[in-house]
Amino acid sequence: MESEGKGATPPRGLAADALVLGLESSCDETAAAVLRGDGAILAEAVLSQEREHAPYGGVVPEIAARAHLDHLPRLTQQVMRRAGAGFADLAGVAATSGPGLIGGLIVGASFGKGIAIARGLPFVAVNHLEAHALTARLPGLLPEGPPAFPYLLLLVSGGHCQCVAVEGVGRYHRLGTTLDDAVGEAFDKAAKLLGLPWPGGPALEALARRGDPARIPLPRPLLGRPGCDFSFSGLKTAVAHAAARLAEDGEQGRADIAAAFQAAVAAVLADRAAHALAAMPGAGALVVAGGVAANAAVRAALAGAAARHGVALLVPPARLCTDNAVMVAWAGIERLRLGLADPLGHAPRPRWPLEALAA
Ligand code: KG4
Ligand code: ZN
Repeated sequence: MESEGKGATPPRGLAADALVLGLESSCDETAAAVLRGDGAILAEAVLSQEREHAPYGGVVPEIAARAHLDHLPRLTQQVMRRAGAGFADLAGVAATSGPGLIGGLIVGASFGKGIAIARGLPFVAVNHLEAHALTARLPGLLPEGPPAFPYLLLLVSGGHCQCVAVEGVGRYHRLGTTLDDAVGEAFDKAAKLLGLPWPGGPALEALARRGDPARIPLPRPLLGRPGCDFSFSGLKTAVAHAAARLAEDGEQGRADIAAAFQAAVAAVLADRAAHALAAMPGAGALVVAGGVAANAAVRAALAGAAARHGVALLVPPARLCTDNAVMVAWAGIERLRLGLADPLGHAPRPRWPLEALAA
């Protein structure tokens, strides 16, 4: 990609019927979506690479990058066809450009730039965290209606665990983050210790249903401490010890550990979110994103924390909480509406903190 390429400048105030293509390839989901400027989802597709990575017990970056390269062209054609659109009908292209696995980011961003160059379209280099942060604002998505700024975002995925004050498009303030593992990663590691397949979150939740969360005491790291940071490595170690001790208990012992782990995580997340809400008196809502938002115990605990602070708990549908391209196209639309686009020389970034967007 030529570093001097400036890219097309979008007109301020994107038309309601303008079409934007969104592309996601930052981890192990290849996804494409076509949205209208008013937020209507015309077509979306997500291809999970779970099967490709499962034998290795986690995402292998090189396999992920090659899989994105294999799948993205076909997936894009598919959503364009289903949207009834040709590339000439697009008003912009938005592609995740970080943070994430650099190989996949390069594939998705270059593919998006190629379309933008060919059609002379504005290109938006989307920050994946911003896409998660803005998903709840998609018109018509939530029965409660889209949240107004400012609100608190709790991002709980396999790669991220953060409390973020969302003050506006491009205006974020990270209130807390994990000191070690992301919460989804903690679920996956605990699940592995209990002999469950990867990705472990859903399997651990199913096992926990048959367990007693009170039988095995597990630590609740940082609970009650000031601030909004997270830590899960001590909890993981405690699960390892408990699993070794309870091996002879068989199935019931494993279920009890799963239930205790899940209860500890839910309590910690609710406590950290409560601290973040206390630090953000203007927040009108607690918005949750990331795969762990699918966990019922976690949602129940967060609902309690939100209610105690008198704010709504907003959880987008599971398919939009996990990685998808609808959120990428929507973040692109939010930016294009403000007349914001990126130069074609914008380099994908494996690390890209939300605060950096302010510049
Ligand atoms: O957001 P996501 O799909 O991908 C990224 O990490 O970006 O999140 C995946 C993570 C995995 O760690 C998975 O184990 C976890 O979300 N997860 C769950 C549940 N469903 C998915 N964790 C706990 N309970 C669940 N029901
Ligand atoms: Zn994500």
